[in-house]
Amino acid sequence: MITTISSRVEVMKWMEDFVAEKYNELIKSVEDSWQPADLLPDSRFETFFEEVKNLRERARDLSYDLLAVLVGDTITEEALPTYESWLMKIDGLSQEPDSPWMRWNRSWTAEENRHGDALNRYLFLSGRINMREMEASTQYLIADGFDLQTDNDPYRSFVYTSYQETATNISHRRVAQIAKKQGDLMLAKLCGHVAADEARHAKAYKSFVGKIFEADPNEMMLAFEDMMRKKIVMPAHYMRELGVEIGKTFGHFTDAAQRIGVYTAHDYTDILEDLLVEWRIDTVTGLNEAGERARDYVMALPNRLKRVAERMKAPSLEYKFRWID
Ligand SMILES: [Fe+2]
Ligand SMILES: [Fe+2]
Repeated sequence: MITTISSRVEVMKWMEDFVAEKYNELIKSVEDSWQPADLLPDSRFETFFEEVKNLRERARDLSYDLLAVLVGDTITEEALPTYESWLMKIDGLSQEPDSPWMRWNRSWTAEENRHGDALNRYLFLSGRINMREMEASTQYLIADGFDLQTDNDPYRSFVYTSYQETATNISHRRVAQIAKKQGDLMLAKLCGHVAADEARHAKAYKSFVGKIFEADPNEMMLAFEDMMRKKIVMPAHYMRELGVEIGKTFGHFTDAAQRIGVYTAHDYTDILEDLLVEWRIDTVTGLNEAGERARDYVMALPNRLKRVAERMKAPSLEYKFRWID
């Protein structure tokens, strides 16, 4: 071992100015932020009922799989308390309220909080969702928590968030495209706004890992390899419905996403390839033997994953979610 956990603390401390810089560049002020109310009918006005009627008419034409994906995405976003408490538990981040890390965590949470609000309100107005069933799934997901296998390690955790924010950017963007095709421009705009936030967050987390590679390349490479060996699991992998065994609902949700091309096995590989380029993995120096082996592993992984993805069949099993009447 070249470094120990105490040097991770040093690296996190050393990065604070960089994080403050990224905060200024990539977090939007409240004044400059969109709010769910900007995108949805305003109940103060007489026009509200007409707007809701139109919204419901458009929502009537949305496909079953798209609705299922939207509900799953909403539940995932609504489990934000889990993600914030997870971020706060990452080792080595200064807990000082004014430290750049804590400011980042709070403002990231504040931006993310709008996503669940916006999607939830849209689905409520759409008239197509059994809201009680969806709300029960959200309560389950927060109560069940998750295990991302990052062990509170900052290096592993930021590999995870780099991956995850990129994945959510892709999936919200694709939902926006499909909603547009199915004639719901309001929903398309809403998901487009969410996707744009996710893109900024992904950019920040990728830059954090890039910075760690400058300071502690060998340990960062080992952490990257470790996360890829364990596979990046979605934060909502414990998602479930009332009366349904844990594990089943999530599988059906990812099947629906795969079926309509919102998020597929190819995307997983594409994100990995993107990260290999972003972090210039092929030219990282300062690796020991284990670090070199870790590099070899992650560099070879995309081709292995592509071969596996080719053998996978598109999931065709129809499933009736309790969320959708
Ligand atoms: Fe989000
Ligand atoms: Fe996000």
